[in-house]
Amino acid sequence: MVEFSLPKNSKIGRGRTFKAPAGAKRVKEFKVYRWNPDDGQNPVLDSYELDLDAMGPMVLDALIHIKNDVDQTLTFRRSCREGICGSCAMNIDGTNTLACLKPIEEVKKAVSIYPLPHMPVVKDLVPDLTQAYAQLRSVEPWLKTDSAPPPDGERRQSIEERAVLDGMWECILCFCCTTACPSYWWNGDRYLGPATLLAAYRWIADSRDEFTGERLDALEDPLKLYGCRTIMNCTQTCPKGLNPAEAIGKIKQLQLQRKG
Ligand code: SF4
Ligand code: SF4
Ligand code: FES
Repeated sequence: MVEFSLPKNSKIGRGRTFKAPAGAKRVKEFKVYRWNPDDGQNPVLDSYELDLDAMGPMVLDALIHIKNDVDQTLTFRRSCREGICGSCAMNIDGTNTLACLKPIEEVKKAVSIYPLPHMPVVKDLVPDLTQAYAQLRSVEPWLKTDSAPPPDGERRQSIEERAVLDGMWECILCFCCTTACPSYWWNGDRYLGPATLLAAYRWIADSRDEFTGERLDALEDPLKLYGCRTIMNCTQTCPKGLNPAEAIGKIKQLQLQRKG
C-alpha cells in the first residue's frame, strides 16, 4: 500500500483571534491563512471578527480593512480592485476567485480565505507564480509575423475575424483556473494548464498571426496539451466567465485535423 507523508508545514494550526470592536452591530468572522515560510513555524488560521459597517462590500475590502486598521502584518496582492489586474486571486469559501469581485454577503458563515491552491506560498495569501508565468512566456503570447514588408498601418481584421477572439482577450491571467485544475496539481511542471493554453489558443485563432503551424507544433506533446482530461474545474471557477476548457478542446481538434 502506498503511504504518503505530508510535509511538516502542511498542518494548519489555530492562530490568533482579533475580537470585534466594542459597539459593532454587524460582526462577521474572517478566517485567514497565515504563513511566513521564513520563520520556521507551521501555517495558522487567524480569526478576525470584523464590523461590516466599517468596510466596503467585497472580501478585498475586508482584507484592506484588516491591513489598515487591525493587523498590518497580513500580506496579500491587489491592485485595481475592479476585476481587471488579476492580482487578488485567492481561494475564498472553497473556490478560487477574485477577492475584489466576491461579495462578503455571498458567504453565509465565516469567510475562509486561503492562497490559490497547489502553488508555493511566498507569504500568507501570496502564491509564487514563477512557474505559471514561465509557462505563459513559453507559448509566446504575442502577435508573430514574418511576411515582409510590414504594413504601413494596422494589421486589419474583419468584424468576424475579430469576433473569434471574444471569450479569450478578456482573460486577466489570474490563474484561478490553472490552480483549480487537478491535472495541473499533479503535473504542473509539464502540463501547461488552462490559463496558458487559453493564451496559446488566443494567438492560434488570431487571423493576423502567421505562426499557427509552429504554435501547434510546440503544443504537440503528451503532457503540455494532452495533460488536460476535460475535468472542467477551470471553466467552472473562472471569475471572468471564460471557458478555457473549450479553448483547449479547439487546440486538440486542430491537432487532429492537421494529422487528418
Ligand atoms: S478541463 Fe482540462 S484544464 Fe480544465 S480543469 Fe479540467 S483538466 Fe484542467
Ligand atoms: S481563464 Fe479565467 S480563471 Fe483563467 S486566468 Fe483567465 S481570467 Fe483567470
Ligand atoms: S484587485 Fe485587480 S482583480 Fe482584484
